[in-house]
Amino acid sequence: MAYRVMKTLAAGIAALCLGLGAAQAAGEAKPAKDVSFEHAGPFGAYDRAAVQRGLQVYKQVCAGCHGLKYVAFRTLTGVGFSEDQVKAIAAESTVTDGPDSSGEMFDRPARPADRFPSPFANDQAAAAAFGVAPPDLSLMSKARPHGDAYIYSLLTGYDEPDAEGHEITCGDGTYVNPYFLAGNCIAMAPPLFDDAVEYADGTPATSAQMAKDVTTFLAWAAEPKMEERKQMGVKVILFLIFLSVLLYLAKKQIWGRLH
Ligand code: HEC
Repeated sequence: MAYRVMKTLAAGIAALCLGLGAAQAAGEAKPAKDVSFEHAGPFGAYDRAAVQRGLQVYKQVCAGCHGLKYVAFRTLTGVGFSEDQVKAIAAESTVTDGPDSSGEMFDRPARPADRFPSPFANDQAAAAAFGVAPPDLSLMSKARPHGDAYIYSLLTGYDEPDAEGHEITCGDGTYVNPYFLAGNCIAMAPPLFDDAVEYADGTPATSAQMAKDVTTFLAWAAEPKMEERKQMGVKVILFLIFLSVLLYLAKKQIWGRLH
């Protein structure tokens, strides 16, 4: 009996070790680069200008492959665009609407209440184009560990050697990127190169600058209400301090009378 229990235990431990080994083998991605963002930390707020530049990078570079289906254009008023600017930005995209009175779907310019349209009709069409469907980016910065640093590293980390300094080779249709969590070879061709966009505010558009800006934009897209959340946190803490003082004084009064 004891022997049987021990055998089962041993088999369990062996399975666990094997499992861990496999997990390590699959998770060999290079740790994300050390990059700091203004919106990090308990009081950090989004760098408005960076979000605006990041929107430009998203629209001119990423939007050809990636959707942003949970983000409505009107939310852009939260990062410093006027209502008229938002209307103009929305109108640059086309959405499908309908059916009209004859039952047909039709295309029209997007309005502020619409969400960013996806470039492909469905995942199958997207996968047919690239082998792997480019994922929707609405929540990407929350969906990966250390999302901001991860996205930045991914965009700036093509053709680097792996974590141990070894050269990586990839098969057809994939590109070397040691930061990619699902292996070192990614089906996304390097999307950024210097001057891929011409920034409206005159900032020099290096690849690193564009990577940082579009990462800030994606962080905002995934949590447009972050600043309210942080401010609420500060208010709650101030209130708790106030309440503690009040309770302390009340306690002193009540017990003072009893002594
Ligand atoms: C030519 C098409 C194309 C363009 C342009 C493009 N991507 Fe991609 N992207 C892909 C494909 C395809 C994948 C899926 C890769 C895979 O799983 O191997 C992907 C995956 C990703 C991922 C997910 C990585 C992961 O961990 O799963 C992120 C983040 C990303 N892209 C960000 C961007 C950003 C930001 C831009 C714009 C600067 C951009 N992409 C431009 C095709 C593209």
